[in-house]
Amino acid sequence: MSKQTDDFFKNVVSHAKEYGFVFPSSEIYDGLSAVYDYGQLGSELKNNLKQYWWKAMVQLHENIVGIDAAIFMHPTTWKASGHVDGFNDPMIDNKDSKKRYRADQLIEDKIARYETDGKTEKAQQLQADLNAALNDDDLPRLKTIIEEHNIVCPVSGTKNWTEVRQFNLMFSTQMGASAEGADTVYLRPETAQGIFVNFLNVQKSGRMKVPFGIAQIGKAFRNEVIARQFIMRMREFEQMELQFFVRPGTELEWYSKWKETRLKWHLALGGDTAKYRYHDHVKLAHYANAAVDIEYEFPFGFKEVEGIHSRTDFDLIQHQKFSGKKLQYFDPEINQNYVPYVIETSIGLDRLFLTVLCNSFEEQDLSTEDKKDSRSVLHFHPALAPVKAAILPLTKKDGLPDKAREILNRLKIDYNVQYDEKDSIGKRYRRQDAIGTPFCITVDYQSLEDDTVTLRHRDSMEQERVAAVDLEKIISDLVGWKNLLAVL
Ligand code: GAP
Repeated sequence: MSKQTDDFFKNVVSHAKEYGFVFPSSEIYDGLSAVYDYGQLGSELKNNLKQYWWKAMVQLHENIVGIDAAIFMHPTTWKASGHVDGFNDPMIDNKDSKKRYRADQLIEDKIARYETDGKTEKAQQLQADLNAALNDDDLPRLKTIIEEHNIVCPVSGTKNWTEVRQFNLMFSTQMGASAEGADTVYLRPETAQGIFVNFLNVQKSGRMKVPFGIAQIGKAFRNEVIARQFIMRMREFEQMELQFFVRPGTELEWYSKWKETRLKWHLALGGDTAKYRYHDHVKLAHYANAAVDIEYEFPFGFKEVEGIHSRTDFDLIQHQKFSGKKLQYFDPEINQNYVPYVIETSIGLDRLFLTVLCNSFEEQDLSTEDKKDSRSVLHFHPALAPVKAAILPLTKKDGLPDKAREILNRLKIDYNVQYDEKDSIGKRYRRQDAIGTPFCITVDYQSLEDDTVTLRHRDSMEQERVAAVDLEKIISDLVGWKNLLAVL
């Protein structure tokens, strides 16, 4: 990360805390590693992002429905899905610092350092060696690579490493009042399995015809060995997943469609298109016959925000096998029973949140020849903005607050709006810019005479005079979901 991008990212993180978007969890006890709380504005933004996804996926598609499955599932679910045996990260400990690392990430950091130092060939060779070791599940080879490249513990600075071991990422707990006879249950590491086990329930009760999809938003938990980059890699996070069930043989066609549809959804948010790219998987998971990530260029490089997988019939077949229940669909068009194939789209809500913060945050220099000036601004799409409008009486007297509150009371029925009468109007505008409020409505003396107000636009900072009676319609046109959804 260059100094400039490093500073930008630090500013994003501190801005998120200062204005009530994201706080470290249980901060008064010094926080809990890789766990975060969303504050008063962060939870609004997160809810708006969920709504954008839900509306685009469920509301706009006649053949997609949504569910809300429980976090706890029968433990056999995770045997069937392969998570009990195979959801592992390769981990290595430094014997001097007692710190634990992901072996592959230590090597990736070394690759990044080679690249920064202009040792491109060395970086490429190391990447190839790492890929080969990971593909072959060759843990001793990972340790050898670490030793050969003189990778030291960032804390102790020594090479006193343990062997590389597999570390299961699922959190487990006990269900039941007594330890005796209690069952080990897991906190789900993905929401997808809640959809697979409900495939027939939804298909039958909703009379769904293949192709159809089941969508879900919910928490997932992973005991990540190391957590980095703020809300990028968390131990408790939220996923928005779709499993789209199709006739076998048609899956690659649907995969291409979903790949395109999902990128369009990201780009509709208005970010820089150059910051998004596809990353096709070269080595596919054993259950997939095509896979791609949608990556976003964060200040620390291109990273996965969403994964799209053609998962074949792997999951449903596994659940058939472990449950002994048939999970088939009778297709009246071809008069056949089959286990549908599945296209999955899986996006991390917290990573999406971070893309939106990085895309929107700007420290703008507004200095003129006579005066130094600047502002921090979040250029959120108006439909996503936590606060849609701020209502500001020019002064605290002469009936202006009453008039402003009258407008507030009308608008608050449909929108999250704020009232603010403290400090100069300029300071109040800056406060709203910093939290991404797209519109400020100022009530002044003229408002008392002719029932008009000024409407200030966050991005251009331009002001216009509008009739107070038209505000509902104006705000609805500017912040409505149709502005985002109509382009999909
Ligand atoms: N059901 C498929 C699945 O879970 P994944 O690639 O492991 O696939 C999907 O996860 C998405 O979930 C990722 O693209 C990422 O956005 C998000 N995600 C995964 N692990 C995460 C973590 N530890 N913290 C935050 N988001 C995470």
